[in-house]
Amino acid sequence: MPGDTFDGEYPYTDVGEYVEYRQPSYGEAETLERGREFLALMDGRRSVRQFSDKPVSRAAIDVAIQAASTAPSGAHLQPWRFVITEDPMVKRAIREAAEEEERVNYLDGRMPEDWQRDIARLGTGWRKPYLETVPWIVVLFEERYRQFDDGARGKNYYVKESVGIAAGMFITALHTMGLATLTHTPSPMAFLTKLLGRPGNERPFILFPIGYAADDAVVPALERKRLDEVMIEVDTSTMGTEGFNPVSS
Ligand SMILES: Cc1cc2nc3c(=O)[nH]c(=O)nc-3n(C[C@H](O)[C@H](O)[C@H](O)COP(=O)(O)O)c2cc1C
Repeated sequence: MPGDTFDGEYPYTDVGEYVEYRQPSYGEAETLERGREFLALMDGRRSVRQFSDKPVSRAAIDVAIQAASTAPSGAHLQPWRFVITEDPMVKRAIREAAEEEERVNYLDGRMPEDWQRDIARLGTGWRKPYLETVPWIVVLFEERYRQFDDGARGKNYYVKESVGIAAGMFITALHTMGLATLTHTPSPMAFLTKLLGRPGNERPFILFPIGYAADDAVVPALERKRLDEVMIEVDTSTMGTEGFNPVSS
């Protein structure tokens, strides 16, 4: 049985084909320098809600999606679909449907009060004009399960985790390319499945308007958590002991 009792070095089974992998590595100084450069690049990323209508090439969208699609995924099933459109009528239809949902959220009280309070400083509202301004909209769908031509279904694994990682890599690729986007979830998003003609095994995950930030764009003045607020180091003096049975001491 694959993965069973083999006690040698990886690979644990003789099932499958393997190729050599040699990842580039750097000296300590260059490792840090590259990391800091990347940190500075990513620290400059912001969610944009004011876009210019300056065109973005289809090739740029393609390459960002290809980059996102290199993400790791449960059992390498890559349970994501990137649905793209530059069609003004489709963008208008998306805007109208998104605004309808968001109007109910913001004006008709569907959004709970604490949520409204938490997002107040972002200055968002139910109107989404940027959905028509941007040259491209990309809707990332999660493939909940595989649907085969004969009607049979196949499982996907860790779908949310996999698609979340792909989304992050997509955002990273766009920012690296100098393109702006918004991680947008006009909730509930089921209208996107119908509007974009997607099958029932796909569920909208995130809607990305993509373009260049407007010359006069502003973003909320937000601070990010410090390293010590998001990182916890554990050693034997602080680790939890419940269920801990050291083999040797
Ligand atoms: C899963 C997710 C959903 C989001 N949905 C929305 C949204 O529907 N509308 C919106 O204006 N911003 C949305 N945002 C953007 C956040 O408000 C934004 O990331 C946050 O305020 C931090 O700002 P920054 O991205 O500029 O660092 C969403 C972000 C995430 C990660």
